[in-house]
Amino acid sequence: MRDQAEKLRQIIDNLKLRQAVSQENLPSDIGKKQAKIITITSGKGGVGKTNIAINLAIALSEMGLRVVILDADFGLANIDVLFGMIPKFTLVDVIHNEKNILEVLCEGPKNIKFISGGSGVEDLIKLDKNQLQKFVTNIALLDKISDVVLIDTGAGLSDNVMSFVMAADEILLVTTPEPTSITDAYALIKMVSHRDKEKIIKVVVNRAENENEAIDILNKLSLVTEKFLSLRLHSLGYILQDEAVIKAVKLQQPFSLSFPKSHASKFVREISRKLIETKRTLPANGNSGIKGFINRLVNFMNT
Ligand SMILES: Nc1ncnc2c1ncn2[C@@H]1O[C@H](COP(=O)(O)OP(=O)(O)OP(=O)(O)O)[C@@H](O)[C@H]1O
Ligand SMILES: [Mg+2]
Repeated sequence: MRDQAEKLRQIIDNLKLRQAVSQENLPSDIGKKQAKIITITSGKGGVGKTNIAINLAIALSEMGLRVVILDADFGLANIDVLFGMIPKFTLVDVIHNEKNILEVLCEGPKNIKFISGGSGVEDLIKLDKNQLQKFVTNIALLDKISDVVLIDTGAGLSDNVMSFVMAADEILLVTTPEPTSITDAYALIKMVSHRDKEKIIKVVVNRAENENEAIDILNKLSLVTEKFLSLRLHSLGYILQDEAVIKAVKLQQPFSLSFPKSHASKFVREISRKLIETKRTLPANGNSGIKGFINRLVNFMNT
């Protein structure tokens, strides 16, 4: 009985979403608007990417933006663990044309939607032109229902992660004060700079002991990057080490919901304000929004 009610609710939710994206119901500007795609990444693992993705999404949503999180950490379930839910379908079902993008969207808290990347999108490069076109048309619906798409990646410099990094409009790079985390972050910046000198890289220092430590790292990283790679980093700020984060992870809840008054929640709200401050620079060829993103992603995967 409960299963049936749940199913019915999902069908209704899906219908509502479909209605929301059908052209005739859209205010004239929304249909034309494209989502900003931000990939959250790091050189070293375990630095707080997933926590930042979720809590940033909540802060942006509270500012009135429509946010979708794509969990592109294909090895491990990540976002769903922190949301305390298990998605039935994943992006792989969309790639194989078994579900449409609206059917794989899960409802998170505060009106956030999230999509599980599933076991991997390597399948994407196996699609022929026709199948890829279908996928792109389908996923392009995200432009109509979101203002920001946050992509949570696994750590490291693997080809897969780098494709998501290079395809995004902006990169949000997370590091901790640990020397290995900083050097790995720099290695990632170096790889990005070799591919694209104009890429927007925004940096957050997480788990800092104090403000001075965080600012010192942001300054040094910016200086070295500018001097040796001729690339300008954008400092987004920092989040201090905060027990509230650890407690919330254990509760499988986003810290900004369980502990909205915590330091970490305050810092995340600050970062979210800075994140949307910078004016959007569209790629010169107008290849923007989710369609442009997928095109670039497949390009990078193929090279
Ligand atoms: N500001 C913080 N204060 C205290 N602990 C933190 C903070 N940020 C992250 N942590 C701790 O670090 C752990 C790892 O965080 P998270 O899972 O978000 O990292 P990640 O970069 O997504 O990891 P992975 O590379 O494995 O995907 C959390 O479970 C939490 O215990
Ligand atoms: Mg993670």
